[in-house]
Amino acid sequence: MKKIKTQVGIIGAGPAGLTLALWLKKHGIQSVIIEHRSREYVEARVRAGLLEQNTVDIFEDLGVAARLKKEGQEHHGVYLSFNGERIRVPFGELTNGRNITIYGQQEVVKDLTNAWLEAGETLLFEAPATQIVDFDSDHPKIYFEQNGEEGVLECDFVAACDGFHGIGRKTMPKGSFNEFTVTYPYAWLGILANVAPSTDELIYAYHERGFALHSLRSEKVSRLYIQVPVDDKEENWTDEQIWDELSIRLGTPGWELKRGPIFEKSVTPMRSYFIDNMQSGRLFLVGDAAHIVPPTGGKGLNLAVADVKHLVDGLVAHYKEKSDDLLENYSKIALKRIWRAQDFSNFMTTLFHKSDEHGSFTYQLQKAKFDYIKTSKAYATTIAENYVGLGFEVIQ
Ligand code: FAD
Ligand code: PHB
Repeated sequence: MKKIKTQVGIIGAGPAGLTLALWLKKHGIQSVIIEHRSREYVEARVRAGLLEQNTVDIFEDLGVAARLKKEGQEHHGVYLSFNGERIRVPFGELTNGRNITIYGQQEVVKDLTNAWLEAGETLLFEAPATQIVDFDSDHPKIYFEQNGEEGVLECDFVAACDGFHGIGRKTMPKGSFNEFTVTYPYAWLGILANVAPSTDELIYAYHERGFALHSLRSEKVSRLYIQVPVDDKEENWTDEQIWDELSIRLGTPGWELKRGPIFEKSVTPMRSYFIDNMQSGRLFLVGDAAHIVPPTGGKGLNLAVADVKHLVDGLVAHYKEKSDDLLENYSKIALKRIWRAQDFSNFMTTLFHKSDEHGSFTYQLQKAKFDYIKTSKAYATTIAENYVGLGFEVIQ
């Protein structure tokens, strides 16, 4: 059996696992990553695009932001639309100059993977973790498979950065946490298209026909989403139907949506999920392994990176200062931001999705909120500061 020894055993080479490995390395703490999928698969997985200021700052500190700074697009505001009326929430004056960057998650994953492998570090692809044992002792072990053989990763700590369907959360002892789930009665159909964006900043739109979002990837590639029924499938939609729907929902007088060939289409369910304890002994859950937010606030990847910060703080204190206070309080510290992000993501989701008829109580509340954003600087500030992401000094 293949045997590897390290200080921190990391399961999953998504944004959480890769950021954790690079950050620990910066502090002289060793780790090894094992990843279920192939490198090609992980680097091609299309997901997030919105990076908070905190996340970009962390990538810069880790020395992995050169391409992000060159190819990512910094946005200083966001458009919100309600039945064709479009307003802009500017970040600069409302957030003390903080902003967001649009840069695809798969590009982030490529940059982090390259940095890790170029440093000569270990990342095993196509090596699913099968079991985590002895995490109530000082020498936990992660069993995995690779090329039909079994291996074991012996470590001081296990970081389960293995996403919502991984084994980390399933390994947590029964009764050690409570679960909270909300499933929304709609899904997103997301597309990538070879066409220049029809907007300079993101547009989130409520429309009587349902939500739509116009995001961007580059000067030549656009990323867009529409609300669809929860059990819908991408093959139920022709390209023309998608463009027609986007054009109506995002539309405002004097504006036209440019159309182009669609090269990626997928349906994502919308869910809020979290657990109220993310650790057991020397096993720590990080990112989507412990929580899911609906993508309307653009928070998932950013929350994963924030969890990493808190775990790094704890591990550095353990190894360098022989203090375990921060590690013992990891869940408590991380959960403050998770709750805030859950609230904001739920707010953005319920504000912009159609869930009831025109004129209903729910509709009137949505309209009242939108009208209030237009007139209240305080309300617009609340939205802007949550959207760009609250600094670590605000939520400690
Ligand atoms: P993941 O990215 O899921 O990585 C987990 C890794 O673990 C995977 O590579 C998986 O293969 C691996 N793994 C699983 N099981 C095992 C095992 N047993 N052994 C070894 N490896 C394993 N977030 C934002 O911040 N901004 C956005 O704009 C945004 N938009 C989104 C749009 C969509 C359509 C979707 C679906 C999500 C969006 N998100 C967004 C959320 C974001 O993509 C996730 O929150 C993010 O991927 C979480 O990173 P992670 O590293 O925790 O998990
Ligand atoms: C994206 O660009 O994919 C994106 C942007 C903002 C969101 C969700 C997704 O809220």
